[in-house]
Amino acid sequence: MIQFPSKQAQVQTTIFTKMSALATEYGALNLSQGFPGFDCSEELQALLAFYSKGHNQYAPMAGVPVFKQSIADKTKLFYGIEMDAQKEVTVVSGATEALFCAIHCCVFPGDEVIMFDPSYDAYDPAVRLAGGIPIHLAMDAQKGFQIDWELLARTISPKTRAIMVNTPHNPTGAIWSEEDLNALAEIVKGTNILIISDEVYEHIVFDGKKHYSVLLHPELRKRSFVCGSFGKTYHITGWKIGYCLAPEYLTREFQKLHQWVTFSSATPLQYALSDYLKEPKHYLGLADFYQRKRDLFAAAFAGSRWKLLPSHGSFFQCIDYSEISDELDVDLAVRLTKEIQVASIPISVFYQKPPSDKILRFCFAKNDDILLEAASRLVQL
Ligand SMILES: Cc1ncc(COP(=O)(O)O)c(C=O)c1O
Repeated sequence: MIQFPSKQAQVQTTIFTKMSALATEYGALNLSQGFPGFDCSEELQALLAFYSKGHNQYAPMAGVPVFKQSIADKTKLFYGIEMDAQKEVTVVSGATEALFCAIHCCVFPGDEVIMFDPSYDAYDPAVRLAGGIPIHLAMDAQKGFQIDWELLARTISPKTRAIMVNTPHNPTGAIWSEEDLNALAEIVKGTNILIISDEVYEHIVFDGKKHYSVLLHPELRKRSFVCGSFGKTYHITGWKIGYCLAPEYLTREFQKLHQWVTFSSATPLQYALSDYLKEPKHYLGLADFYQRKRDLFAAAFAGSRWKLLPSHGSFFQCIDYSEISDELDVDLAVRLTKEIQVASIPISVFYQKPPSDKILRFCFAKNDDILLEAASRLVQL
């Protein structure tokens, strides 16, 4: 074996891969990894089949122009925000790539990047690989996983390069309000701090609430990379296609990274999605679609000792099991997969310093019969 030092000695296989593998091994209902248990629409499949003839060579580095225009048009329609399709939009191979490029194009060795735990597991390693220092601020389950703005203000230092935002939030289902945007804007005003905003669940916000993108606040918009994904919006997580919206000066630096990471994203996907995006009902109906699933799943726990935490957005339901077991969430998630064949994700893995909460995350982007069967097994505990 050739000896070389690991660049990520502390990193192991992600919890999603582990739990999905365990779910397969034990034939469990897999409510762990966040992907839909159903297919994308036949219309989208037909568009892909159509564009897979004659559109099979490299796309332009920053994206097919008509696709970038469709993304800008959607942004105008959904947020009322004008984006310059050619200067402020980049097509990427999934939000994971957008996050990686955004972090790497601005974080220098020794820079601090603030993130709120529980935080999506791609942020911390990307910051470390750039030589940056991830600063984890914990959100409190008892306070609805809201940001502690005073703590953030105290944590800002001359070394703070960027702040990671994620709304709607994975794993908790918390969402930001207009006051949250204002609070963040107040803190970063007059600084050179950048915002990297992960908004992959932008179209999945429940109970008539609105998604507050950082694009909506001028103070934030001028310093933000907004990372989006079509995987969650159109049930195509396997397509790995998304976008980054950012002002021209940030987009220029972002694209310098993107050209070395993937150069460009799959051409037929871009043409197919460009057409599909033109019909807003394809994404406007998503919140109702998932709200019904959230409610169906939640109703099945009524009267049980599982305590459901509010899920305002995303397709995740966090459930407190403290009345059922004293086990660590990691142990319980493994045991439930093996014993009753229901796989979930322990939320402690999303923390740098896990609190003593007893909470599991369940993905409800699954067919109704799977959700009901999983809940019926869980409530018997
Ligand atoms: C919060 C969050 N960000 C980013 C991603 C990755 O998105 P993509 O599959 O488009 O890379 C996910 C996927 O689960 C996610 O939950």
